[in-house]
Amino acid sequence: MVTRYEEARAALNDPRLSKDVTGMNDLFDRHTAPGVPRRKFDDALAVHMLNTDPPDHTRMRKLVNKVFTARRVELLRPRVEEITAELLDGMSGDVDLLDVFAFPLPITVICELLGIPTDDRDSFREWTNTMLSYSTPEAIQHASSSMAGYLSNLVENKKRDPGEDFFSALVHADESGDRLNDHELVSMAFLLLIAGHETTVNLIGNALLALLRNPEQLQLLKDNPELIAGSAEEFLRYEGPVNTATFRWTTADVELGGVTVPEDEFVLVSLLGANRDPERFPEPDKLDVTRNAGGHLAFGHGIHYCLGAPLARLEFEVAMKGLLARFPDLKLAAEPEELAWRDSNLIRGLITLPIRLT
Ligand code: HEM
Repeated sequence: MVTRYEEARAALNDPRLSKDVTGMNDLFDRHTAPGVPRRKFDDALAVHMLNTDPPDHTRMRKLVNKVFTARRVELLRPRVEEITAELLDGMSGDVDLLDVFAFPLPITVICELLGIPTDDRDSFREWTNTMLSYSTPEAIQHASSSMAGYLSNLVENKKRDPGEDFFSALVHADESGDRLNDHELVSMAFLLLIAGHETTVNLIGNALLALLRNPEQLQLLKDNPELIAGSAEEFLRYEGPVNTATFRWTTADVELGGVTVPEDEFVLVSLLGANRDPERFPEPDKLDVTRNAGGHLAFGHGIHYCLGAPLARLEFEVAMKGLLARFPDLKLAAEPEELAWRDSNLIRGLITLPIRLT
């Protein structure tokens, strides 16, 4: 496991550290004791860009890149503001902020982009929560095959009856002869869906908790809402939603920080560790929303750098501005020691965030 900033950045940028899923699965099989069932997602979900190296990675990413540029994403701002206002209108009293706000916002946005009925979102939440936890191999297999079946139907529907959404366009894409096959489309939908909602929910949740624990920082943002957009970088650094989800495997002997990792080994990069490296970020355990936290690794680094970063930043900004303006006196409705974190080394996020709004 790599925990220091410089080594983490170098590892994420090293082409000898592969994300290729076939090699990854071989390695998992070799490391799993005989007779022990292995936690594994359904194969139909596996052929996506975050599980591939160039040239496949380059081809897949190119097909979706332009939809997620900062300029294109900015066009979504009015709709993100509208969804945020609707959610805020429906909130009062004591709530689980994740449930009523931080989860529905990004899932609604990504479902609209993919042309997926938002009514189905509770099923996704359950499936993806199971898949990213330490559930039993059977539960993980069941959740991931339910997800795969659902998304195969979605691809079939979009073929027969395309909508105005971006996913319909992808199903029918024909970019200089490049298009995704059915298997790749299902995996792409899965990646966008899981990345599009398992992360931003926790950026909002973790940021709000950090603010409630640092009241002077909360006051600063309430008094100066123009600081909110830029503060996203500090919240990503301080307690980003992704921990060691960025694992890779070595296709050669690789030296990292004076240690030679042999060929065919796993390398886990702890983004949370790297972002609290005191050599890169002085006083790393201090939350300072005015700090220049640029260069943090919460969105990864290198060719797999988060495709959704502009969307996540937009959602964070609109959500935080709306929440603090509408409910400036919000408070934690639980003792801090009652808060529990999710049972996952991939995702850093709370199980619930009880908030008293007024
Ligand atoms: C990749 C974090 C939101 C789509 C990544 C990676 C990280 C990350 C760390 C790289 C993983 C690696 O290198 O192993 C985050 C965080 C988010 C967020 C912290 C929110 C705060 C989103 C959203 C979307 C998205 C909203 C979708 C619309 C993707 C995709 C990749 C990716 C498609 C794979 C890119 C590639 O392989 O080239 N994200 N993400 N992410 N993210 Fe995000």
